[in-house]
Amino acid sequence: MRLLNVKNIILGVIFIFSCNSLIHAQLSEKDQVRLDELMGKMTLEEKIGQLNQYTGDYEATGPIRKGGDKVEEIKNGKVGSMLNIKGVENTRILQEFAMQSRLKIPLLFGLDVVHGYYTTFPIPLAEAASWDIEAIEKSARIAATEASSGGVHWTFAPMVDIARDPRWGRVMEGAGEDTWLGAKIAGARVRGFQGDGLGSTDAVMACVKHFAAYGAAVGGRDYNSVDMSERMLRETYLPPFKASVDAGAATFMNSFNDLNGIPATGNVFLQREILKGEWDFQGFVVSDWGSMGEMIAHGYCKDEKEAALRSIIAGSDMDMESRVYTHELEKLVNEGLVPMALIDDAVKRILTKKFEMGLFDDPFRFCNPEREKAALNDPSNREAARDIARKSIVMLKNNNQTLPIDIKSKDKKVKTIALIGPLAQSENDMLGFWSISWPDGDIVSLEEGLRSRLPEDVKLLVAKGCEINTDSKTGFDEAIEIARKADIVILSIGEALDMSGEAKSKGHIRLPGVQEELAQAIQGTGKPVVVIMNAGRPLVFNWVADNMPAILYTWWLGSEAGNAMADVIFGDYNPSGKLPMTFPRDEGQIPLYYNYFSTGRPSFGDHDLLYKSAYIDMPNSPKFPFGYGLSYTTFEYSDLVLSSKSMSSKDKIHVTLNLKNTGKTAGEEVVQLYLKDRFGSVIRPVKELKDFRKLMLQPGETKSIIFDIDAEMLSFYNNDLQWVAEEGEFELMIGSSSADIRLKESFELK
Ligand code: GLC
Repeated sequence: MRLLNVKNIILGVIFIFSCNSLIHAQLSEKDQVRLDELMGKMTLEEKIGQLNQYTGDYEATGPIRKGGDKVEEIKNGKVGSMLNIKGVENTRILQEFAMQSRLKIPLLFGLDVVHGYYTTFPIPLAEAASWDIEAIEKSARIAATEASSGGVHWTFAPMVDIARDPRWGRVMEGAGEDTWLGAKIAGARVRGFQGDGLGSTDAVMACVKHFAAYGAAVGGRDYNSVDMSERMLRETYLPPFKASVDAGAATFMNSFNDLNGIPATGNVFLQREILKGEWDFQGFVVSDWGSMGEMIAHGYCKDEKEAALRSIIAGSDMDMESRVYTHELEKLVNEGLVPMALIDDAVKRILTKKFEMGLFDDPFRFCNPEREKAALNDPSNREAARDIARKSIVMLKNNNQTLPIDIKSKDKKVKTIALIGPLAQSENDMLGFWSISWPDGDIVSLEEGLRSRLPEDVKLLVAKGCEINTDSKTGFDEAIEIARKADIVILSIGEALDMSGEAKSKGHIRLPGVQEELAQAIQGTGKPVVVIMNAGRPLVFNWVADNMPAILYTWWLGSEAGNAMADVIFGDYNPSGKLPMTFPRDEGQIPLYYNYFSTGRPSFGDHDLLYKSAYIDMPNSPKFPFGYGLSYTTFEYSDLVLSSKSMSSKDKIHVTLNLKNTGKTAGEEVVQLYLKDRFGSVIRPVKELKDFRKLMLQPGETKSIIFDIDAEMLSFYNNDLQWVAEEGEFELMIGSSSADIRLKESFELK
């Protein structure tokens, strides 16, 4: 055993005693006494048992480790939590085993309820495209109500990793590339999951993941290394985690990646100095699946014993499925390498949550079959899923007013619609990765959604045309044939649900198989085409984007996907989504994001290349920028007025402007406020999102919008890692997207 940096151990122990009493502070007097009494009775083996988490057999979400008898270990008090167990019956059975243990400490049941439990909501990246914070919170609230009714105490969500690289398949789980929007959404999801607070039987513990900077994996390759300055970490990647702590998140999950040479699971700086120190986080940290043992493969730990030692020192409280704690911790304590205080701190954090959840009062309080039945059959949950699904759809193109398709008016031109494409009839793919499968799950496909709306006099012809990911074009003829018979084609293409998500990094993010060729074949019929793109990430689809007249990016929208898409296609809902991530023209541009630095040789446009920071073989600009999305109506921005052209750090500048719906259809616009600090002690991005308003306007209606600018919005980490707002000039930009700035002003911080 290589002698460890003793400083870390001493740091850890000193830290623990400094906040130990605070951990208690979350419990009633009575429960504090009960907790102390319980801890006093526990053997070292029983304490280590609380730090141990095994997977159930529902669906492995990581490499399964065979061996051992989990039920016997539960009965002997050697297991603190189980994951991947769902349903009141299954959780009751295991909880009954836990009640056979000497001290009858209840189990915590965790599950990846990432975007819905029984009712599947749009993937988180899609929900981020809605820019509807309330709807996002409601989505998490419903997921929690359904999951808690099914015996689940703890969801491994929200995933709050900022991601600027669509080659990384896990972008689908997060809120995209922007720190400010990501932090807003993180807080909303934590509040949604935890509702009125732990202890309520419709609340689940949130688990903020993956701590930290997992989205910055080199090359967009999952589990890969991350290396960045502390300034970049604090300014870009940590704020959504901090927002989650501020929202009261009960637990954190660390990440697989190493950060600046130290795996997150063994990273004292991340977990003890920042999370449990600076941020005073009172909950507990669970490792990601097997990540403790993976520190051996990282080359950071020589063996399981060192992995256990470095994990407990770094503040990783619970071991998900690596077993290094149950194998090694007792020895480490008995050899004096791990102070008992470190064990007690981890145990106390975990038991505190079990007390807060009310599990010591009634270990079966989440096992109510009647509540489960009622919660899983609440029709309002489906309506909420449909609502946020509609709001998540981003209209990327709509030439010649191809959309919406008129199927209602008497003199309508469309009498036959051809629905073509490998996703047209798919149900499961609509759920997306990290969805929970149910044998009786009711998923609305695009075909079903369309059919349910068609009047008698409009026909729907359907042909797959091709598979999602094969080279066969044998279905093209049938597709072309029905296209020729139709007045308009709806072309449903994109990714299967297992093409984005964990361990789904891709070097190319193009349309799989021969889907682009299918689009070209359909274009050959000369019919108008509406493209429906289902995917878990930004794809590169330039030919379709350049040659098809209308495109809706419909992500993976969940149980109500087909109805939500039909609502937009037929004009019952005016699309209002805005991209939460930049869409590159080519993988060669990645990482590509809107809040970049100017450089000393900025390229102003795709043809300004000579001696500029640009590619000579492709444009710098994205295919579709952050914050972009079209509507069936148009909006006019006007009358931007600042209450003052200068402010001190104690003042605020009130910003007002008018927004008018200049079209014929009611619609929502996301008015985005960007700021640029023109000169700083460290260079600042060309623009940063600092606020937005999403508002509905009737045709011809004008609304006044107010924003307040304060010093916090102007602040950043300087080279000494101080959070400062520096005097000087600022640009204020109001846009319909990050690349469509409609109004500009400047002001000064004095
Ligand atoms: C997976 C994921 C993590 C998930 C956990 C449990 O490996 O990285 O996000 O919560 O295991 O399923």
